[in-house]
Amino acid sequence: MNICKTISEFRQYRHSAAGKVIFVPTMGALHEGHGSLVRMARRLAGPDGIVAASIFVNPTQFGPHEDFHKYPRHIEQDLANLTAWDADVVFCPSAEEIYPPGHVTSIDPGELGTVLEGAIRPGHFRGVCTVVAKLLGIVEPAAMILGQKDFQQQLILKHMVRDLNMPVEIITAPTLREPDGLAMSSRNRYLTPDQRARAGSIYQALSWATHQYKSGERDAAALEAGMSERITQSGLEAQYALACHAETLEVYHQTVGNPCVFLIAAKLGTTRLIDNVVHS
Ligand code: PAJ
Repeated sequence: MNICKTISEFRQYRHSAAGKVIFVPTMGALHEGHGSLVRMARRLAGPDGIVAASIFVNPTQFGPHEDFHKYPRHIEQDLANLTAWDADVVFCPSAEEIYPPGHVTSIDPGELGTVLEGAIRPGHFRGVCTVVAKLLGIVEPAAMILGQKDFQQQLILKHMVRDLNMPVEIITAPTLREPDGLAMSSRNRYLTPDQRARAGSIYQALSWATHQYKSGERDAAALEAGMSERITQSGLEAQYALACHAETLEVYHQTVGNPCVFLIAAKLGTTRLIDNVVHS
């Protein structure tokens, strides 16, 4: 696997290699969820295409009191995993490479960036859009694979590439879960054994809502209260547990319509976890 630490190194590699590029952006601390995206990229690229990943803990998407400095960094392990998952090239730049002194431009994701995660983490999606736009300009992929786990992120980035006429297809990959249903996440390693044992309640609450929804329940308040209760009973602090329109993220206040996404954000101590399930 090729390792490129600078933009010019990556561009040199990119322009010497033939074949379409399938891109998986990450912040590292890689787990099997990331692995499923890289493996999907390999299938889509075929033997002649190029599977490119990036590892960059993007400072601009972290708030001042968030975990940027303590975000897990395991570059050697990450490189070994990417090699095992059959990536061809990884772009792992420094912060100065991506944000040189004098960098002023950023991308405003509009209304969608202000709700749910954006309401709790102001500026988060501006940082995500800005770094992904930069990565797309460097990597120039035919397609980029994102996880459904970060539902709002993939929706906002789909709007960004459409609105800015970026010539890239976005593919959303399903969420990989632990045996108890907990969505795999780099942040799961912050959990103590006791917190980890209780974290499965997020998916239990989403599965309960799914079952109710499939049985015909459409009362938004009942579904939201039921999800919140299940999380709170396990000792988690529910930040939101909502039924939203899966394309606009508007909250269904009375009757849950179609398409629908159930979204949960919850805290276990200082660790924030998010998850969702979609019904269309
Ligand atoms: P990161 O949290 O490292 O996630 C990288 C990609 O992996 C995202 O598309 C995310 O949705 C996906 N992912 C995470 N957990 C997953 C799981 N359990 N199953 C399937 N996919 C999963 O998301 C980011 O990084 C950053 O915001 C980034 C897009 C790289 C911009 O900095």
